[in-house]
Amino acid sequence: MKGLILSGGKGTRLLPLTYRRAKQLIPVANEPVLCRVIRAIRDAGITEVGIVVGDTEPEIREAVNGGERWGVNITYIRQSAPAGLAHAVKEALPFLGDDRFVMFLGDNVIQGGISSLIRQFADSDWNSQIVLKRVPNPQQFGVAELTAEGSIRRLVEKPKQPPSDLALVGIYMFDRHVRQAVESIRPSARGELEITDAIQWLVDHGFRVHPYIHDGWWIDTGKMADMLTANAYVLDELAPSNEGRVDENSTIGRRVTLQKGAEIISSQVRGPSIIGENTRIINSYIGPYTSIYNGVVIENSEIEHSIVLENSHIENVGARIQDSLIGRNAHVAQTVRKPKSICLNLGDYSQIDLV
Ligand code: DAU
Repeated sequence: MKGLILSGGKGTRLLPLTYRRAKQLIPVANEPVLCRVIRAIRDAGITEVGIVVGDTEPEIREAVNGGERWGVNITYIRQSAPAGLAHAVKEALPFLGDDRFVMFLGDNVIQGGISSLIRQFADSDWNSQIVLKRVPNPQQFGVAELTAEGSIRRLVEKPKQPPSDLALVGIYMFDRHVRQAVESIRPSARGELEITDAIQWLVDHGFRVHPYIHDGWWIDTGKMADMLTANAYVLDELAPSNEGRVDENSTIGRRVTLQKGAEIISSQVRGPSIIGENTRIINSYIGPYTSIYNGVVIENSEIEHSIVLENSHIENVGARIQDSLIGRNAHVAQTVRKPKSICLNLGDYSQIDLV
């Protein structure tokens, strides 16, 4: 079997973080979502992996290279335009050949243990397998309606009136017949070639599409709140390790991971949380469900339930920062001056919540 990861498209809902950056490279628990996806595919025993890329190809190549780190062989497939998930499959056909494959959306984070699912498909005679999850907001996803016997009746993309609460998770398995499907369907009302329509085509033409209902958690990291939720879930499952240094004036909780060169100085760190490589926490408090990435300095400040990206600097902030997503090379500081004022230098589409 082969693996196909979709990492093109535009991440407009995660602006400004994705203004200049692939959304798939935003880390949860200090690991870019895309790298987690590669690991999940590798753990299922797949070594030939194609990554569909768009304008953000250079940074994705820089982060992933040839896949050596995971022991997989990566082929980059440049999509001519972000024209839909089925369009991505269409452009990946030369890579896929006639092999069975698993397609994984590069911005989906799912609870582990999908290897057995992939192997089950590899050994089956199904033409396709889709993964479904019961959600409270199905109108934001592709939605499946099943028959009383549990087979697929129909699939609809982001319906205003969802026929069920079963959302399509961004993991799909296909055999070579998907070629006919993606070559036969027409663009949807939003102008994209939808994978949902391609699967419907398979169902309508008598191919066997097996629906699997996933019990564990699953997050499509489309919005900021979703990133924080995914971060919390992954931190909850992370086995803690300590490759950093904690001075005698600091305390760290049981479920804290310190990556290489992390330093905790006169501070308190509560888990589950992760402190990145060469990050320094000085005279500060880091609360649960916080991921601080590499090369960050946090000084005289408090933060919890947040993600801070690389090389940012937070100093002397009087109020506790929470539920926040702070980008790369950001500087957050509080100075005492008269008249009392707020000085902002924010990127496009930034959001600030002052109380
Ligand atoms: O996350 C699950 C949902 O993913 C499904 O429930 C929907 O049925 C499916 O259409 C998809 O919806 P999204 O609106 O979330 O898809 P999005 O545009 O965010 O793209 C998902 C991934 O695929 C993302 O990593 C970008 C990549 N992509 C997207 C498009 C449109 C491509 O590589 N090429 C593309 O042309």
